[in-house]
Amino acid sequence: MHPVPCFVLVLLAVGASEFCCAGPLHAQCKVEWYFGIPCRVVYESLVSQINKWRTMAGCTMGGQKCLYKLQSASVHFIAAKHTTPFQRYVDDINFRLVSYHFFTSCHVSAMSISETWYAIKDHGTNYCNIYNLIEGSGLTEARGYNEVTSDFLCTQRSSANCTVY
Ligand SMILES: *[C@@H]1O[C@H](CO)[C@@H](O)[C@H](O)[C@H]1NC(C)=O
Repeated sequence: MHPVPCFVLVLLAVGASEFCCAGPLHAQCKVEWYFGIPCRVVYESLVSQINKWRTMAGCTMGGQKCLYKLQSASVHFIAAKHTTPFQRYVDDINFRLVSYHFFTSCHVSAMSISETWYAIKDHGTNYCNIYNLIEGSGLTEARGYNEVTSDFLCTQRSSANCTVY
C-alpha cells in the first residue's frame, strides 16, 4: 500500500472542517424565497433589475450592484452572471420560479456559485449576488415575502454585508 501524500491529508482536513462548520466547501449560496404575488411579476422585476445593473454605474461608490449579465430568461428559469467590479471574479446565478396557490403566489429557488473552484470564503458575496436583486427590485417589500436559507446553504451568510459585498 502506498502512503497517502501529505497534501491530500491537508486538503481532506481543510475540506472536512469547511463542510462541517462553516457551510459549503465551494463558495456558493442557495436561497428559497416565497412571494404572495404571481411569478410573472417576480420574473419581470428580476429581469429588469439585472438589466438595470448591467454596467459599472451602480458600483462607482463601491458595492456590487453592477456587472450583471442576463444569460437566458423564461418565466420559469432565469440565468445570469455577476462579475465582481475589481477582482473580476465571475459567479453564476439562477432563479427557478414555480407558481402555487392557483398562480397567486410564487416560490423562487435561487442559486449563486463562484466559477473559481478555490473560492471557499466569499464574505457572503454569493448570497448578496442574489439578495441584492431581490432587494433592489423591491421584492423584499412584496406581499407574503419570506426567505429561507442558512449559513450551511450559503457561505458566510450571517456575516454578509450586502452594501459592501
Ligand atoms: C455595511 O457596510 C457599510 C459600508 O461600509 C456600513 O456603513 C454599514 O454599517 C455596514 N452594515 C453592517 C450591518 O455592518
